[in-house]
Amino acid sequence: MTDPSDDPLLVRAREALADAYVPYSEYPVGAAVRTADGSVFVGCNIENANYSNSLHAEEVAIAEAVKNGHDEFERVAVSSGVRDGVTPCGMCRQTLAEFCDGEVEVVCDEGDDVASYALGELLPNTISLETLEEADAARGREE
Ligand code: THU
Ligand code: ZN
Repeated sequence: MTDPSDDPLLVRAREALADAYVPYSEYPVGAAVRTADGSVFVGCNIENANYSNSLHAEEVAIAEAVKNGHDEFERVAVSSGVRDGVTPCGMCRQTLAEFCDGEVEVVCDEGDDVASYALGELLPNTISLETLEEADAARGREE
């Protein structure tokens, strides 16, 4: 058992919950990402009356980091503040995969414990620049 409050990155994800804007789901999510140089960026979910416009906590954390010049990440933490063992949704797994190797650890708050996954375990197949290049090459071969 790992106490989530002993994990500094997870503590940052928990703190980010306080900024969540969730009038529709009332389900706050906080995320924190640690960059290759040890910087930490956090995000929370920001909902919208047009539900599909809602931003997920992981997207906001990644956006904050990337706009500050970081595109290499070492570790990711996610919390929903309740004992539900939240994990990044499918869309966020792909968003993380754009910038994180499959070995990057994703830690998820379970209230009184921490669940740890490798990103590649959460999303074994990703769409990457190589995917697009391979499709392009395949089209070239067909012509
Ligand atoms: N949510 C996130 O912020 N991250 C995830 O990966 C899972 C879902 C948010 C979206 C919505 O505001 C709320 O949780 C309920 O789905
Ligand atoms: Zn998501």
